[in-house]
Amino acid sequence: MIKAENVSLRYKDGTLALKDVNIGIQPGELVYILGPSGSGKTSLLKLLMGIEYPTSGSLEVMNLPMKRSKRRKIRKLRRNLGPIFQEFKLIEGRTALENVMMGMRILGIRPKRMREFANTALSRVGLEHKRFSKVEKLSWGEAQRVAIARAVARTPRLILADEPTGNLDHDNAVHILHLLNSFRNDHTTVVITTHATHLIHDFEDITILHVDQGNIRVERRGKRI
Ligand SMILES: Nc1ncnc2c1ncn2[C@@H]1O[C@H](COP(=O)(O)OP(=O)(O)O)[C@@H](O)[C@H]1O
Ligand SMILES: [Mg+2]
Repeated sequence: MIKAENVSLRYKDGTLALKDVNIGIQPGELVYILGPSGSGKTSLLKLLMGIEYPTSGSLEVMNLPMKRSKRRKIRKLRRNLGPIFQEFKLIEGRTALENVMMGMRILGIRPKRMREFANTALSRVGLEHKRFSKVEKLSWGEAQRVAIARAVARTPRLILADEPTGNLDHDNAVHILHLLNSFRNDHTTVVITTHATHLIHDFEDITILHVDQGNIRVERRGKRI
C-alpha cells in the first residue's frame, strides 16, 4: 500500500521536514503518525497525497511512484484516497449533504447514486439529522464528521486524516478516533496523525510511526489476547 525508501523532503526555503524515511504499510493496516507539533506529520501526509514530492528517495502509494513525472496518474490515484484535512476545507453556504456529494464528483457516478452514498456516509458518522444544515452552522465536531463522511463516501482504499481530534475534549476525541478506526478493513488502510499520544494509549493492532524532527521510527503494536 505504502512503501518509502530513504525518503527525504526539503521545502524550498531549506527546511528539511523528513529525513531518510523508510516505511512499509500493508493494505488494511491502521496507522497512527505520532509526534509533536512541527515534527513532520503533515509533511508525510502531503507526500502520501501527492501534494508534495520527495526531494530524494523513492515513495510508492498503491504501487504508483509518487514523483512529479507521474502527476497525471497521481490525479487518478486520488479517487482512491480519502483525505481529511486539518482545516476541513468544507464549502460554506452549502449543506452537509452537498459537501459530501461534492467529494464524490471525481468518481463520475450518477447524482442519484451519489446522493445515496452521501446519505449512507452521513448516517455512518451519526449526522443524518443534520444533512440539510449549512456547514457553517455546525459545531467543530460536527463539521469534522462531515469532513469524514465526505472522505469515506467514495469508499477510498486509503483514508488520511490530519489531526482529526483537533481541540475536542477527551471523550469526543476518542470517539472520533474510534469512528475513523471503524473504516479500516482488509482493503482499506487508515492513516491518522495526532500529537495527542495519550489518546491511543489503549489501542491494539495498530502501527505507530513516531515522528521526531523528521525522523521516523516504526512500532507495531499487536492484539492483546
Ligand atoms: N510549506 C512549507 N515550507 C517550508 N517549511 C515548511 C512548510 N510546511 C511545513 N514546514 C516546516 O516543516 C516542518 C514540519 O512541519 P509539519 O509537517 O507541518 O509538522 P507537523 O504536522 O508535525 O506539525 C516544520 O519545521 C515546519 O515549519
Ligand atoms: Mg500538522
